[in-house]
Amino acid sequence: MWEKKPILFLLMATAAILVGTGVTMVLPFAWVNTDADRIESVTPYTALELAGRDVYIREGCNNCHTQTVRPLVAEVIRYGDYSKSGEFVYDQPHLWGSRRTGPDLARLGGKYPDEWHYEHMRNPKAIVTRSNMPAYPFLDKNQIKPAYVEKKMKVLGFPYDAGQVKQLDGKTEMDAIVAYMQKLGNDIPWREASAITIVGDLVNPYPGVSHAEMEAWEPLYEENCAACHGAQYEGGIGPELVGADYEESDLFGIIYGGVKDGGMPAYSSLGADKIWKIVNFVKYYNLGEDHL
Ligand code: HEC
Ligand code: HEC
Repeated sequence: MWEKKPILFLLMATAAILVGTGVTMVLPFAWVNTDADRIESVTPYTALELAGRDVYIREGCNNCHTQTVRPLVAEVIRYGDYSKSGEFVYDQPHLWGSRRTGPDLARLGGKYPDEWHYEHMRNPKAIVTRSNMPAYPFLDKNQIKPAYVEKKMKVLGFPYDAGQVKQLDGKTEMDAIVAYMQKLGNDIPWREASAITIVGDLVNPYPGVSHAEMEAWEPLYEENCAACHGAQYEGGIGPELVGADYEESDLFGIIYGGVKDGGMPAYSSLGADKIWKIVNFVKYYNLGEDHL
């Protein structure tokens, strides 16, 4: 019956649209960026990290990488705790991105040792054989200009710190981008919060596996471990694993949960079966045919 009263209908429709607009567009401005969103442990970028962030923007890294983990189970398992709005207060502009040719980087800080990043930036394929990420070796040759970074800190309202700016002397853009990578998502203690406790008995599902059978598992080691521990377990970024004499269950724990603060990533997302294969491979394969 309202549709036969055009004026009343018009007023009611307008009111409905205004309420909708208020709830979805106006109120959020009051809800976000309030003190409740502030996270104490989130600190501003240092001079070096800020310089790295600008390299990231200049090189268009965000055309291939996002910097936000959505609150979806699959993403949290793959990348780590989902992003909180308070983590981005110092991002002007934010670099959430929208395209993932490469993986999300929001929880990257602390995942790898610095050395891994230097090698990966100089030649991604040396670390991840099938990577299609471009190489950025020239960043090693570009010196940071401290005076310029200082100017940017002042403009952006970052706590300007003469000591930090002085430390930029002799630093390259490569040092800066690595420092920036290690800062990402590392301001909240999410790794500790997500520490995994393995419950129940860990029983090797492949007891007495043959050398020939393990050969098929070699790619698992090559893809996930060789970059840091060497193709022949000889070590490199990580320690050598030659003759590594671990209990099977300890080895499982190291691979599943990584080594916190030690620069070894967690491999829980591979799933228990693949991890057991790697455990057997690392522990028994290099002993040769006769290990049984
Ligand atoms: C053409 C797309 C592309 C561009 C541009 C690109 N990347 Fe990547 N990136 C990738 C792909 C694909 C991977 C996954 C394979 C690998 O690790 O190399 C990756 C992986 C990474 C990783 C490892 C992430 C992890 O969790 O293992 C880092 C760090 C990274 N990129 C940083 C950068 C930075 C910094 C830049 C800009 C200087 C950049 N990328 C530019 C495609 C790209
Ligand atoms: C990004 C580099 C990196 C990758 C990839 C990596 N590790 Fe590690 N790993 C390390 C580092 C660094 C340590 C030393 C950690 C510490 O003790 O502080 C380590 C430690 C270990 C240890 C303990 C060794 C010891 O003597 O303390 C084992 C076992 C191990 N890794 C196995 C593996 C396996 C198996 C894989 C593949 C699934 C793997 N790692 C992938 C970097 C890596």
